[in-house]
Parts: sequence; C-alpha cells; structure tokens
Amino acid sequence: MRPRSIFATLGTLLLLSTPATGQDAKLVERGAYLMNSIVACGNCHVRRDKDWRPLPALGLSGGMLFDEEPFKAYARNITPDRETGIGKWTDAQLIRAIREGIRPDGTVIGPPMPIAFYRGMSDADAQALVAYLRAQPPVKNVVPKSEYRMQLPPAYGPPIKEKIVAPPRTDLIAYGAYLAGPLGHCIDCHTPWVQGIPDLKRVGSGGNALKGPWGVTVSRNLTPHESGLKGWSDAEIARAIREGKSRNGSALRPPMAFDWYKNINDEDMKALLAYLRSLKPLPLGGEPAAAKK
Ligand code: HEC
Ligand code: HEC
Repeated sequence: MRPRSIFATLGTLLLLSTPATGQDAKLVERGAYLMNSIVACGNCHVRRDKDWRPLPALGLSGGMLFDEEPFKAYARNITPDRETGIGKWTDAQLIRAIREGIRPDGTVIGPPMPIAFYRGMSDADAQALVAYLRAQPPVKNVVPKSEYRMQLPPAYGPPIKEKIVAPPRTDLIAYGAYLAGPLGHCIDCHTPWVQGIPDLKRVGSGGNALKGPWGVTVSRNLTPHESGLKGWSDAEIARAIREGKSRNGSALRPPMAFDWYKNINDEDMKALLAYLRSLKPLPLGGEPAAAKK
C-alpha cells in the first residue's frame, strides 16, 4: 500500500469515528427539538411516577402500560442500553421500526404506537430522531412483554423504498398537515376511529374516548365548526396546545403531550394553526348534520 492511500484510509476512519461533526450536531439539535416538542415520543416512552408525572431523569426507558381491549402493551426502552434498549440496532433498523413498525428480527410493533402516521415522516426528520436517541445516556430497564389478543397486521404497508421529503415550510397548510400527521399524530387522536383506524373522511372532528390512569377523556373537535375551534383566536388555540388550557381557561386532561408541546416554536405553531383552520368544518365526531333527522 502506498503511504498516500494509508493516510486516505486513516482520514476516512477518523471522519467516521468523530462523534460531533457539524452535520451530526445539527441532526441531534433538530432531533432534540422534534423529540421535546411536536413528536413527543416521550409521552409514551418516558418513565412516570404513580401520579403519571414524567420522570425525565430516567429518559425514554419505557414501561408505561396501555391496558385496553384487546391488548396490554408496554412502551419499550428506547435508550441506547445494549441489553434492555435499542443499543444494538443500526440507524436503518431504527428508522424502519419507527416508520414501518418492523423490528430487526422481523416482528411487528403493535398499537398504540402511531406507525401509520410515522410512515410519512421525512428521511431527514427520521434521521434526526435517531441521532437524538443515540446521543442519550443508556438506561437499564427491562420492560414486560406486550400481550396482543388480536392479530397484528403483517406490516403497516409496503417497504418504504422511495425518499420521503417534508413539504416546504413556505406552504403553511401542507407543512401544518405534516406536523399534525406524520410528526405529531394530532390527527390520530382527533379523528373518529372505526375499529381503531382513523376515518380520514372526518379528519379532526374528535369524539374518541381515551382511557388511562387519568380516567376517560374525549378528544375534542379541532375543525372550524361551532362545536370545534370556530371563533377561537390563534392565541387561544396555541394556549390549548402548549399549556393545556381550554378557551374558558379550564385545564385539559391527558393524554395530550402538553409537557412536550409547550416547546413547539412559533413557526411550527403558525403552520399548525393554518392547517387546523383549513379543515372542513364538521360537528363533533363528524356525523353530517343532515343525517340527524
Ligand atoms: C402512543 C404511544 C407511543 C408513541 C407516541 C410512540 N411509541 Fe414507540 N412504542 C409504543 C409501544 C406500546 C411499544 C411496544 C409495542 C409492542 O410491544 O409491540 C413501542 C415500541 C417501540 C419500539 C420497538 C422497541 C423494541 O424493543 O421492540 C421503538 C424503536 C419505538 N417504539 C420508538 C418510538 C419512537 C422513536 C417514537 C416517536 C417517534 C415512538 N416510539 C412513539 C408506544 C408508543
Ligand atoms: C394522545 C391523544 C391526543 C393527541 C396526540 C393530541 N390530542 Fe389534542 N386532545 C386530546 C384530548 C383527549 C383532548 C380533550 C382533553 C380534555 O377533555 O380535558 C384534547 C384537546 C385538544 C384541544 C382543546 C380543544 C378544546 O375544545 O378545549 C386542542 C386545541 C387540541 N387538543 C389540539 C391538538 C393538537 C394540535 C395536537 C397535535 C399537536 C393534539 N391535540 C394531539 C387528545 C390528543
């Protein structure tokens, strides 16, 4: 081997093993913003005390139980612990798990993780989330196995082969739809479910009963209808999302991720508002008024 190529090889190795190059630091920064605001994986994957308050020091080490018919699912440890977390997974394996719901061993991740929405997450944002996850301290926590008394789908769709790019930020409504769907899954909770699947003909009209340690809450109507957000100012809607206060100032209850949404920046909030205002006005739960004789 000529000396020149030895140096070239060394240079490549150094580049590969240097942790925080500018590019990586940017990715982690974007991942931290997403994770601590609109995406809020932590709303499910964080550890909590018995009053359901997050324990941020234990990171995304999982364990939260979702006890619903027909499953008993435990959110998993997604810290980089090699034995009990995702420390042994490659970036590509993690992205596949998040967007396609398939683990490295080929098994399918069950509900309530909103995989159907995450499928639309851009390559860049998925990479940023993974970079953030890798930058976290590993936390050991063995999580019980989930029990699904139902047939899990073999997959949530065909393998993702094409490149996924987010809509341009200049298109406020389209970017807002990206925030409310693939990144934030607002639309998952706020669209009426038919057998657990959001009925996209009634987008945003709410009416789903959500059960948990907090009791039962019903997702609200986010469309510009009398029973929804018609007449609300931008500031009132933003306050509901960031601070969990309804229009009359009353506190909204879980499971919305207020602890994370408080960090949604103004630019993203503007796009979210533009999108919500663009929804077709529908009554709560979306039943067409004409059908109610
Ligand atoms: C609504 C709750 C919820 C949200 C939001 C959520 N998850 Fe999950 N996640 C779960 C549950 C529950 C499981 C376990 C499912 C099972 O056992 O099949 C899981 C499993 C996983 C797994 C598989 C880990 C393993 O060891 O099998 C990964 C990886 C993961 N989630 C990452 C994420 C990331 C990253 C996000 C945010 C982009 C996220 N999750 C958002 C509930 C959630
Ligand atoms: C995990 C389910 C879930 C997710 C995800 C979710 N919400 Fe909610 N949201 C609810 C529930 C349930 C309520 C009603 C809480 C109550 O009744 O106290 C609510 C209330 C609201 C309200 C208050 C409306 C009113 O009439 O007071 C707004 C606005 C809202 N959500 C917007 C959003 C937006 C925007 C997102 C995404 C960034 C989002 N939600 C994500 C479940 C969810």
